Amino acid sequence: MNTLLLKDTPADTAQAGAIIRDGGLVALPTETVYGLGANALNAEAVARIFAVKGRPADNPLIVHIAHVKDITPAIAKMDHRAHQLADAFWPGPLTLVLPRGDALPDITTAGLDSVGVRMPAHPAALAVIRAAGVPVAAPSANRSGTPSPTSAQHCIEDLWGRVDAILDGGDCAVGIESTVLSLLDAQPVVLRPGAVTAEAIRWVLGSPVSISPGVLAPVSGEAQTVSPGVKYRHYAPGVPLTLVRGDREAFAHYVNSLPAGSGALVFEGETEDLSVPALTYGRCDDPESQAERLFDALRRLDSLGVSRVYARAPQSEGLGLGIYNRLLRAASFEVIDLAKNQGGGPDRPDRCG
Ligand code: TXA
Ligand code: MG
Repeated sequence: MNTLLLKDTPADTAQAGAIIRDGGLVALPTETVYGLGANALNAEAVARIFAVKGRPADNPLIVHIAHVKDITPAIAKMDHRAHQLADAFWPGPLTLVLPRGDALPDITTAGLDSVGVRMPAHPAALAVIRAAGVPVAAPSANRSGTPSPTSAQHCIEDLWGRVDAILDGGDCAVGIESTVLSLLDAQPVVLRPGAVTAEAIRWVLGSPVSISPGVLAPVSGEAQTVSPGVKYRHYAPGVPLTLVRGDREAFAHYVNSLPAGSGALVFEGETEDLSVPALTYGRCDDPESQAERLFDALRRLDSLGVSRVYARAPQSEGLGLGIYNRLLRAASFEVIDLAKNQGGGPDRPDRCG
């Protein structure tokens, strides 16, 4: 099909909104990653999202709104906690999982009784949703399994000729997907860590928040049903990846002694330590810069021409937990802990310097 390339202008966001309202698919920028938007109330349009992405039918979509009052057709009820969190973090990178409303077709929620809702912060996303006049279902605008797109170029690589339009709103400021927080039970649970941290959520609610076991380890059975996204291979780079926990020196020592055909993913300024081909993802002590660069780096690993890439693990607190989680999944949970292997070492195996 013919794909339109739209810009972040009032005329083009209005056109994108009209395409979505009329049942079409538009890749649009958000502050986290690009989303592939369709009318969340239109089962046929949503079915096209699943087909174009090659997404398993049991993985539900996030519904995007531009005003809290527009949440009504999507959800059944918004409790006090949801209002507190929406006041604190919307528009922004937080998705709230709430009881679903009757107006949503089953396909949008993958048949679950709940729905993830968020109000994105990118002005173009808000303009498109307003122009559409309907809640917009939007998963990340990548083909299923590949790293989420953080630029219009990434969307073009994955979706050109498969969607009605791609709206270029520049590079995504955050770079990893939103925090997904379930409010279905008495205690909120982070199902996917992102830029709105568990600490920040705890602070706003003034009560405990737990982190789903699926964030740091492969899960099976019941836990998969609660958080369907966790069971699929995600962020898979073209080259197999291993995550390595260790400081700059230990990492360089380890990677430089690997057989030929190995490559590395490290922080800026660290490639000079290495005798293998390497790419970088942000600065060691700056998780914002890591989040911003990560998916683009994962998409470019092929260019190293190696058969396995060893990635230096980020620190895993705050926003770092989201970055660590994406890398862990990209590495299919394969982790080497140098501090542990070497019997001691630095107390912060992932420290900078
Ligand atoms: O930042 C983001 O969230 C981006 C932008 C476009 O908004 N969207 C995004 O969508 O990352 P997607 O489809 O790639 O990831 C949605 C995640 C999946 O892991 C899915 O399983 C989970 O949210 N999810 C959606 N609805 C859910 C529900 N009702 N219960 C549990 N998890 C849900
Ligand atoms: Mg995704």
